[in-house]
Amino acid sequence: MRLGERIHRIERAKGLDRVAGAMKRVVDAVPEGRFRDVLHGVQLGHPMHPLMVQVPIGAWLSAAVLDCFPGTERSARRLVNTGIIAAVPAMAAGAADWSRQHERHQRVGVVHAAANNVALMLYGASSMARSRGRHGWGKALGAAGLGAVGVGGMLGAHIAYHLAGGANRADYVTDRMPSEWHDIGMLTEFPEETPMHGVLGDTPLVIVRSGGEVHVMAEICSHMSGPLSKGEVSDDCITCPWHGSTFRLADGGVVSGPATASQPVLETRVRDGVVSVRRPESGALVPPPRSEAAGAGSEQEKQPTTGRARG
Ligand code: FES
Repeated sequence: MRLGERIHRIERAKGLDRVAGAMKRVVDAVPEGRFRDVLHGVQLGHPMHPLMVQVPIGAWLSAAVLDCFPGTERSARRLVNTGIIAAVPAMAAGAADWSRQHERHQRVGVVHAAANNVALMLYGASSMARSRGRHGWGKALGAAGLGAVGVGGMLGAHIAYHLAGGANRADYVTDRMPSEWHDIGMLTEFPEETPMHGVLGDTPLVIVRSGGEVHVMAEICSHMSGPLSKGEVSDDCITCPWHGSTFRLADGGVVSGPATASQPVLETRVRDGVVSVRRPESGALVPPPRSEAAGAGSEQEKQPTTGRARG
């Protein structure tokens, strides 16, 4: 059996659900808000966890290389300690992401976290042994820790690549939108402040008429594919019903996580009561700042602005 298939078995291991539930209760004690958004990477516009794990992995790997050479004990110990310190916020960021993922991700995440906690303990023991001058033990424990980190990293990669946990689930829409105008319905079909499901080809869209404007964006949430047409609209934003990510209607920008990637927004126009959409002319599905857009023309029926059109 191939390695990937073995890891898929973990996804189906319902026995892990009790542990996952207990872990989730602990992680959920951290309230939604700015701190959680920092852990997700909302302000960066990029998931924080994969960035932060570079430090402990890099430090511990470097320590392992130094352990191969005589006279490097002091530097190696510093690297081991650097990795221990850096692992704590990296784990916190990973836990925040994990708590907003699906069951299968969480089962693999439980084993991923266990492997990394074992690694952390081994490196803690390695550091203590090194500080007492027992460098042989320090190196051996460090090597075992590196092995545990390798297992943890492999499982983390499975979550990221096989299960697309942390991937931008809505990005594909960017490549599937036509550059020509396509009608998606009559303006009267879209009630004010009510997200409506629509399709263009086989791509699902969410359409929101708000404040006299029509906004159209990819329906599946960039976080974990939640259906935005079942979300709530308020304050010119739409909130995903699954984990509460909030996106600006005007440009799809993330107001609050766990999503870190903007929602693709389409260029919109209304003519003779018909709402049409197309890929923004810039090719990017995020519009220019309002000041630039304002200079492009004032009559929206002739000069539509990305992501919205007046009704
Ligand atoms: S799917 Fe998680 S916030 Fe939308």
